[in-house]
Amino acid sequence: MRPLALIVALLFGAFLWLYYLQDLPFRNAPQQAISFSHQIHYERGIQCAYCHMDAPRSTFAGMPSVLKCLGCHRIVIPQYPEIQKLHVYWNTQTPIPWKRVFWVPDYVRFNHQPHIAAGVQCQTCHGSIGSMDRVRQRVAFRMETCITCHRAMNARTDCFGACHH
Ligand code: HEC
Ligand code: HEC
Ligand code: HEC
Ligand code: HEC
Repeated sequence: MRPLALIVALLFGAFLWLYYLQDLPFRNAPQQAISFSHQIHYERGIQCAYCHMDAPRSTFAGMPSVLKCLGCHRIVIPQYPEIQKLHVYWNTQTPIPWKRVFWVPDYVRFNHQPHIAAGVQCQTCHGSIGSMDRVRQRVAFRMETCITCHRAMNARTDCFGACHH
């Protein structure tokens, strides 16, 4: 009985480990409603700010509207199945349910505006999104991430009032 229990436990452990491994490349890289590739758009020279217009002036970077996508895709590869989905969202006036990749907990106060104003590049915090097919968070946002850079760039490091609600 004993050896059998051990074998079962080992097999179960191995299964969990394999499950963990095969999931790794997609951790924090959710499958989106439309398989949008940053890399393809980046290579065509489309600027981040063209789609994430609010980053320089607001808390949120913002997401492009369905209409903005259709602005190009009425003409660019209009028959492609992933593009056909855009028409469904447009005709039913539903926003595309993009899944969040980057986020900080509710008690953290983050604002894009002062960072863009201070000249911090998107890629410093988000990684090279322009070379990603599927957006993925490679480095977790921890408090040290914020603090380390704030110290280096002489930004505020007093917690309440600046970074915590
Ligand atoms: C400024 C123009 C422009 C805008 C805006 C734009 N795209 Fe594109 N998109 C392109 C171009 C150019 C291509 C490459 C077409 C080709 O390969 O011939 C492309 C390719 C694609 C593809 C096909 C990629 C593949 O797998 O081959 C998808 C899907 C797509 N875009 C979705 C979107 C979505 C969703 C939006 C809105 C969030 C959007 N696009 C906004 C220009 C644009
Ligand atoms: C053609 C429009 C378009 C362009 C150009 C574009 N993005 Fe995006 N971006 C999107 C869409 C649509 C999503 C949501 C789907 C996804 O996550 O792939 C997104 C998602 C993101 C996210 C993840 C948001 C989250 O959920 O946390 C980041 C970060 C981001 N973009 C940064 C950038 C950066 C940096 C650039 C420039 C290198 C850029 N984007 C250029 C359309 C665009
Ligand atoms: C100082 C670090 C930092 C910089 C620089 C930065 N971001 Fe972000 N970004 C974040 C954090 C943190 C979040 C998560 C915010 C939240 O959970 O409310 C985020 C969220 C996002 C999102 C998700 C949607 C949203 O509005 O919250 C997008 C899209 C995005 N960033 C795009 C950009 C783009 C484009 C740039 C460059 C113009 C940029 N970011 C520069 C840290 C940064
Ligand atoms: C790569 C560097 C960098 C990172 C990472 C970073 N910041 Fe900043 N942060 C700055 C700079 C630079 C300023 C602007 C300082 C100024 O204007 O004096 C700033 C300003 C701020 C402000 C405005 C403070 C004020 O003056 O009122 C807040 C809030 C803030 N950051 C929160 C965060 C949080 C939360 C994180 C982590 C999720 C973070 N930051 C990550 C560099 C960074």
